[in-house]
Amino acid sequence: MSDVTYLGADRMPSPGAGLSFGIDIGGTGVKGAIVDLRTGDFVGERHRIETPQPATPEAVGRTVTEIVDHFGWTGPVGLTLPGVVKDGILRTAANIDDAWIDTDVRALFSSQLGGRGVTVLNDADAAGLAELRYGGGAHVEEGLVVLLTLGTGIGSAVMYNGTLIPNTEFGHIEVRGKIAEKRASAKVRKDNDWSFEKWAEKLSEVLRMYERLFSPDLFIAGGGISRKADKWIPHLTNSVPVVPAQLRNTAGIVGAAMAVADDL
Ligand code: BGC
Repeated sequence: MSDVTYLGADRMPSPGAGLSFGIDIGGTGVKGAIVDLRTGDFVGERHRIETPQPATPEAVGRTVTEIVDHFGWTGPVGLTLPGVVKDGILRTAANIDDAWIDTDVRALFSSQLGGRGVTVLNDADAAGLAELRYGGGAHVEEGLVVLLTLGTGIGSAVMYNGTLIPNTEFGHIEVRGKIAEKRASAKVRKDNDWSFEKWAEKLSEVLRMYERLFSPDLFIAGGGISRKADKWIPHLTNSVPVVPAQLRNTAGIVGAAMAVADDL
């Protein structure tokens, strides 16, 4: 656990002292927390607000401001979005409102947060950074690690010798004529009411394709379904080892906090 004392809203810990702030923007919830970068732990509780509907950039921006204000945080903020983010601009939006495409999300969030520094990155990339430093990849210093977030879609983070190669979109690689995330995301399992065993078969096919294309050394499986990893990892039939993510639903926030701190 963190050795930083949570001071209460009137006396917030300030940036510096190894603290940073991350926000994970998802289709159902926007979640934020102060992160102690020495440990990867939250300082106090995270704060979650339902994603506003319609989830326009401006409406989500207001929710982001509400979360930051809740903590009285005055420093820079790292944020995640479920799409490709290049130079602060969101280029794709597979599972969020199309209104986001080509939005300068860095400028938008920065101006809504009073002009402070912000870093915006892909949600799976954030999870990958966090897992590699504090979680399931912490022991892997060399080689190619692929973290997959198995949720509504499939997100990916590719890390080579500890360095993130950002904005990979493994969920959109076609496997027998259908993109991977439409074949084997956690949502597809739920929608089809598949057993874990059956789903593991579908996921194995996707993983084998990734193996053929990228020859990874390790897969880290993230997303809510990684909590039940013992029910499906044993049924996988691909070759490369798959380990469950360890940070679970904190990884996006922690990775966002890491990203903004590293940019400074
Ligand atoms: C998006 C990715 C995202 C993933 C998980 C995919 O549909 O294209 O950018 O990381 O979903 O949210």
